[in-house]
Amino acid sequence: MEIKINKTACPKEKPEASTLGFGKVFTDHMFVMDYSREEGWHDARIVPFGRIDLHPASTVLHYGSEIFEGLKAYRRADGKVQLFRPMENIRRMNSSAERLCLPTIDEADALKILETFVSLEQDWTPSAPGTSLYLRPFMFGNDESLGVHAVNNATYMIIASPVGSYYKEGINPVKIMIEADDVRAVKGGTGYVKCGGNYAASNRAGEKAEKQGYSQVLWLDGVERKYIEEVGAMNVMFKINGEIVTPMLTGSILPGITRKSCIEVLKNAGYTVNERLISVEELGEALQNGTLEEAWGCGTAAVVSPIGELCYKGEKFVINNGEIGKVTQMLYDTLTGIQWGKIEDSFGWTYPID
Ligand code: PLP
Ligand code: COI
Repeated sequence: MEIKINKTACPKEKPEASTLGFGKVFTDHMFVMDYSREEGWHDARIVPFGRIDLHPASTVLHYGSEIFEGLKAYRRADGKVQLFRPMENIRRMNSSAERLCLPTIDEADALKILETFVSLEQDWTPSAPGTSLYLRPFMFGNDESLGVHAVNNATYMIIASPVGSYYKEGINPVKIMIEADDVRAVKGGTGYVKCGGNYAASNRAGEKAEKQGYSQVLWLDGVERKYIEEVGAMNVMFKINGEIVTPMLTGSILPGITRKSCIEVLKNAGYTVNERLISVEELGEALQNGTLEEAWGCGTAAVVSPIGELCYKGEKFVINNGEIGKVTQMLYDTLTGIQWGKIEDSFGWTYPID
């Protein structure tokens, strides 16, 4: 596959590391590739970052045929830039594409695209502690007609943004509200893939939580509203009475790459991790009797984020005195250590960029 590169004539000034939030500043270039049923994927190109042209009847604007991924490039202590488990994102993107009847991309091509793009933009990877270059691959259906059906045309793009921490709290514990009314996903739906619609439908609960001082929502299952699923942009894990538990992948939860990595790190460190159903009653009891020792979220944007307070139906519970717990800290140190090249990657998860 050939990737044409058209470099910008006016590179932008790179932002100060201290001003970085999440996804507000973008690099000089973007990757674009078109798909049609007749030609397959074609015209792979890296072009100056800029606006895109869409037909007003474009499928994505009406029927939400959009999927995305999120991964980061990290600046190592020795100055090199590396990715973290990029094939996992590529495979999940294809799983999302399959669910939404969008075209899949050959895995080797997808990796070459990512590598070529990051290699070109690598100077944008900041080096200050906790910063990285967030990569956002996304794909959308692009037929110029209003019929509802699997698309004949699509576009795949990658944009990149130098980022600091996702939450204003950084590594400090966040406050999360358990959502009792709205649901995010059901089995058979799209919860296990990363499509824009999942996030659009979650905004109402997110707004409600934010108004009350909470960072995100913890979703319950969509059928019984009984079992803990995940947080808006993270999977969740708990230490209850010594047992490390995380909701099992039932089909409505996103199979997070950070979740998978945390489980592998924990098992490697000798912990047992149980992937099982966790009811909100079980969690409530553990909160009330003090056996909920630690709670944390895990995701690419947020890395490992301690949960210091949970609110359910108006009742507030502080976890571990609002402090980061031992297991949470170990996971944060191990994952960020591997990602930023500070500790040896004995798992073979990192992917250096030349
Ligand atoms: N769950 C949801 C809903 C997410 O948006 C994310 C973020 O991508 C995650 C979980 C964590 O997934 P990952 O660790 O692959 O970033
Ligand atoms: C990520 O962690 O990459 C996410 O996608 C979270 C989010 C900003 C939706």
